[in-house]
Amino acid sequence: MKIAVAGTGYVGLVAGVCFAEMNHDVTCVDVDEKKVEIMRQGISPIYEEGLEELIQKNNAKGTLHFTTDYQEAYRDADAIFIGVGTPEMPDGSANLGYIATVSRQIAETIEKDCLVVVKSTVPVGTNDKVEQFIKDFLVHDVKVEVASNPEFLAQGTAVHDTLHAARIIIGTESKEAEALLKEIYEPFGLPIVSVKRRSAEMIKYACNDFLALKISYMNDIANLCELVGADITDVAKGMCYDERIGSRFLNAGIGFGGSCFPKDTKALKFLAKEHGYQLKTVEACVEVNTAQKIRLFEKAKERMISFNGLKVAVLGLTFKAGTDDLREAPSIDNIRLLLQAGADIYAYDPKGVERAKQLFPEGKLEKGSMTYVDSAEEALDKANICFVFTEWPQIKQITPAQFKEKMHTPLVYDGRNLYDPKQMKAAGVEYYSIGR
Ligand code: UGA
Repeated sequence: MKIAVAGTGYVGLVAGVCFAEMNHDVTCVDVDEKKVEIMRQGISPIYEEGLEELIQKNNAKGTLHFTTDYQEAYRDADAIFIGVGTPEMPDGSANLGYIATVSRQIAETIEKDCLVVVKSTVPVGTNDKVEQFIKDFLVHDVKVEVASNPEFLAQGTAVHDTLHAARIIIGTESKEAEALLKEIYEPFGLPIVSVKRRSAEMIKYACNDFLALKISYMNDIANLCELVGADITDVAKGMCYDERIGSRFLNAGIGFGGSCFPKDTKALKFLAKEHGYQLKTVEACVEVNTAQKIRLFEKAKERMISFNGLKVAVLGLTFKAGTDDLREAPSIDNIRLLLQAGADIYAYDPKGVERAKQLFPEGKLEKGSMTYVDSAEEALDKANICFVFTEWPQIKQITPAQFKEKMHTPLVYDGRNLYDPKQMKAAGVEYYSIGR
């Protein structure tokens, strides 16, 4: 099958590479020439386990191509997958500008019947509009249909999540479109759930927002645990035996970040409002998360007279482990507050430093300063206070004794519950975590 993929972000690139791995003939399109060039050379523009290997393998095999020339890619494709971004607008709605641009390019280019598949997360009803938009601008006399095929991969495990997805959701309005998508996914050997287009669009939001709600719920309960003397890790342990609740996404912490949950909770809230409905559960989820992200800073503020001139170790910058992505990472809100309060930050992250430097360049910033170091030990050296924001193994493996020995004052605020409070206390570390 000849497949074109528009956009080489997490969604588009991983999908394209995995289709090529299944021996489809794939061309990935991106407007960024530099990015296209490095992908041609077998270098992945994002860090994802196994992705670079698959790019190289399929480049060599001849099943994977990269181009900035969309016409070449779309002209005679059997299917065109749209995987461009739908960033958040100031009012919380999804920006469909990139989708519109690609749709118009498709309409003006395709010379044979084609299925356009929207993989990007889009508000319910967008696929209908995309189909109409393409039909309005069609140049050649061809049949075009739009299908929804939302993506469920998580960053850090993107390749694995795609090749071993729990299910493939396809939303179509015709038997032909359904059959074509089933054929494309047949080599993956995964369960396929076929529904109508609007339901497929809604499934994506319903899943993400449900998971976000689960996290906010656990954070809410964790905060209550602190007040009543319970331990959230014990509580989660007890909850997860109930299969109706399940064992995953029960980790209380510093709040959810990333490019998906923050955006998709706000987008669904907005969609509901547009239709005259108030989605109270999701609104509460967003509210809890906003407060949770800076909870540790607020706690530390109560304990300290000032952060001015203090050496603050920040361990972990990315929104979760296994990625170099900092979008909506809780570390950002906290670093901003610490810098405003005059802290001298020494930050360590195994993958996130380059992207962090774009937000917080090294040197004097606000009333404080920013320094990036190569190890957790260096960050902790003579530090007055330490914040843990990401659950990287390199950070998790620090022993209570190391905190005690390295730091000037062993005072640790852990947003990921990585260490045992009893052991920290025994080692002489003043330790604060979430819900314990
Ligand atoms: C999420 C979903 O998990 C994917 O299924 C979905 O496809 C993706 O969004 C998307 O829409 O593209 P992702 O944002 O990569 O994936 O990362 P997650 O692993 O879901 O984590 C999101 C945030 O929740 C992170 O900040 C993480 O630290 C936090 N989290 C996760 C918790 O605080 N507690 C948990 O128990 C789990």
